[in-house]
Amino acid sequence: MIVATERLLNSPADLARLREEAAARMKPTGTVVSLCRGGGCEVKGSGKLFDALQAAVEELRADGKDVQLRRTGCHGFCEIGPILIVHPGNILIFQSACFEIAYVLANDGS
Ligand code: FES
Repeated sequence: MIVATERLLNSPADLARLREEAAARMKPTGTVVSLCRGGGCEVKGSGKLFDALQAAVEELRADGKDVQLRRTGCHGFCEIGPILIVHPGNILIFQSACFEIAYVLANDGS
């Protein structure tokens, strides 16, 4: 018998149900902007980029838009970092394009 959180799992079906519930809880709503904060991207400026994106995202949220900013670990593409991924759509943005987007967001909020 496996104990997960506060619930006992008595069968594979219980585990499958728990997995589905967890996946539903983790499924993002709205737009999720994920910025790599791994060492390679940090060296290439993802810290400053994160600060700029955070300010822009806070403004968007204040306007009622459903946007989240998340940090990620290394994606393995350090050479083209910083790496920014936008969901939905799995849009990959890298290097200077990240800074251009942060600039646009910081200056007109759209
Ligand atoms: S540290 Fe960002 S992709 Fe490796």
